[in-house]
Amino acid sequence: MSAYRQSQSDSARWDETAERLRANLSPASKVIREESLAGRTTLRVGGAARILCEPSSLDDLRKAVAYAHQQAIPLHVLGRGSNLLVPDAGVEGLVISLSHQQWQMFELRPEGKIWVGAGLRLKNLCGLAAKAGLVGFEFLEGIPGNVGGALRMNAGAMGGWMFDVVEEIQVMTRGGQVFTWPKAQLHVEYRHCLELDEAIALGALLKPASAAESEQIKRQIDTYRDKRQKSQPRDPSAGCIFKNPPGDSAGRLIDAAGLKGERRGDAEVSLVHANFIVNRGHATSADVIALVRHVRARVQEASGVTLEPEVLLYGQEWKDVL
Ligand code: EPU
Repeated sequence: MSAYRQSQSDSARWDETAERLRANLSPASKVIREESLAGRTTLRVGGAARILCEPSSLDDLRKAVAYAHQQAIPLHVLGRGSNLLVPDAGVEGLVISLSHQQWQMFELRPEGKIWVGAGLRLKNLCGLAAKAGLVGFEFLEGIPGNVGGALRMNAGAMGGWMFDVVEEIQVMTRGGQVFTWPKAQLHVEYRHCLELDEAIALGALLKPASAAESEQIKRQIDTYRDKRQKSQPRDPSAGCIFKNPPGDSAGRLIDAAGLKGERRGDAEVSLVHANFIVNRGHATSADVIALVRHVRARVQEASGVTLEPEVLLYGQEWKDVL
C-alpha cells in the first residue's frame, strides 16, 4: 500500500474514532479532528492533535478517558501549554483540554481555603485571591499556566512552589475513578508530582498563608511582575527549558558557556535569560530540539553538568530525541 493510501486510511480511522467519541458525549463537549496545538502552546510550535476533546462535565471527561482506554488510544492532557513542546508531526492520540468553563471554578471555603478547578488560569487565581485578601499566591502571577498544569509540574517562581499552597487534590485515574488525595500522600519534588504522571488533576483545595489588605497583596504582585519583566523574555517561549541542576542555575551555566543568541532556524537562546528558548517567528519543533541538543552538549563540555529538560515533549521522551 502506498504511503498516501496508508495515510488516507489512517485519517479515515481517526475520523471514525472521533465520530464515535462525539456521539457518546453531550453536545456541549467539543471533539475536534486535527486541531493545531501550536496556537494552544506559549512557544507556538508543533503539529496537530489527531483528536482534541474539551469535555464540558465530569461525566463526559470520564467517558472520554474510558473510550481512550478501551480503544487503546494514547491519552494526553493539555493545560495552557506553557511548558510544552509539541512535535512537528503532532500527537498520535486523544488530547484532553479542561478549558471549558466547568473546570475554571474559584470557590471560597471556610478558614480562607479556596477550591480551584484545573482549568483556572494561575493569573486569575492570583488576582482573585488578592481580591479576597488571601496571602500566599502572589508568586503565581507570572506563570502563564493553569492550575492543572501547575499541579502536574509543581510549577514555581520567586521561591514558591505550587504544592506549597496545596492541601489536597482531586484527580481522575486513567480508569475513570475520582479520588481526593491529601498532599501528604503525594510524591512531590522540584517540578514534578509523581501521581500526576498518570492521574488527571481536576482541581485542588488551597490554603492561604495568612490574610492581608488586598492593596498590600497587589503591591507584592507588582514587585514580582517587575522582577520577572526585567529578567525574563517576552517573546514566545515555554518558560525555562532546562531544570536547574542541584545547587546551580541552568541559565547561569548556559550564559557562561557563551550560548546566548545561539540559533537553529527561528529558535533562539534568549538574550535576556539563557534558560529560555524563544520562537523568533517560524521556529519548528525540530529547530527547538536541535537547539536543546546543542546547548546541552556545549554546557556539558564547558562545565561537566548534564542539563535535563524541564519542558515536556508531547507524546515522546526526551531521551529518545536527544
Ligand atoms: N543568570 C545568568 N544568566 C542568565 C540567566 C540567569 O547568569 O541568562 C543567573 C542570574 O544572574 C542568577 C541565576 O542565574 O544569579 C538565577 O537566575 P534567575 O534568578 O533568573 O532564576 P532561575 O533559576 O534561572 C528560576 C526558575 C524560573 C522562575 C525564576 C524566578 C527553574 C528552571 N527556573 O529561574 O522558572 O521564574 O527562578 O523565580 O527552576 C520555569 O520553571 O519555567 C521558570 C521560568
